[in-house]
Amino acid sequence: MGCALSGSGVAPGKTISESKWCPSAENQLASKVGAEHGGDGTGADPFPLAEGQKKRIQESWRFLHDNIARVGIIVFIRLFETHPECKDVFFLFRDIDDLQQLKMNKELQAHGLRVMSFIEKSVARLDQEDKLEHLAFELGRSHYRYNAPPKYYEYVGIQFISAVQPILKERWTPAVEEAWQSLFKYLTATMKRGYYEEEEKSGSIKSLGLRKPGTGSILNSI
Ligand code: HEM
Repeated sequence: MGCALSGSGVAPGKTISESKWCPSAENQLASKVGAEHGGDGTGADPFPLAEGQKKRIQESWRFLHDNIARVGIIVFIRLFETHPECKDVFFLFRDIDDLQQLKMNKELQAHGLRVMSFIEKSVARLDQEDKLEHLAFELGRSHYRYNAPPKYYEYVGIQFISAVQPILKERWTPAVEEAWQSLFKYLTATMKRGYYEEEEKSGSIKSLGLRKPGTGSILNSI
């Protein structure tokens, strides 16, 4: 039996964690090494990418780079098709219902590019695990302020993977797919930790009466 996510594509509506997750021996080794270096099952997970997986991601990114604007839009249009409620958190285009029209929207294009440049930064930091973790953790914290709930983060990875597959053509292999899945799994798990930390902080600030009720972030009340 193979991975639910490998092969022809990803079932829409399934998250990576909901799908059958099947780490390769290489991946398991990477986790084991991480655990031996202090991973205790609490807090941050050990960095899950093996050296070969990092290389596969870096190589495929070189081919994807020229297409990032297109990929950014496809990812979000598909996210809104499968989870229309996600659009409601985007003030700048939440009132545009026609997804064809939305594809041409400058704000969505700019947002897609911001997300892709985050992926680019992550790829550039695959060998600097502390920096990568910090980047994703802070992004999760800012998503708490954007009111963007963690349950949707994994769908971005799923849509990214299905959007880049036809671009990479024969360069797309099950091993490349697994490497990207591992990266997104790590990024979304780290973002979630950042989100929940910010939520907890804001909760304690709220209980001290320092935040206006109904505001998403302390920043809004400063
Ligand atoms: C792997 C998942 C995701 C990644 C990597 C990601 C990345 C980003 C990045 C790089 C930004 C730019 C601003 C910043 O750096 O703080 C951003 C902004 C934002 N994201 Fe996400 N995001 C993800 C998932 C989501 C989801 C699922 C939603 C909605 C449900 C969402 C909603 C927003 C909103 C509302 C903003 C602020 C508006 C804007 O910048 O245009 N994000 N995101």
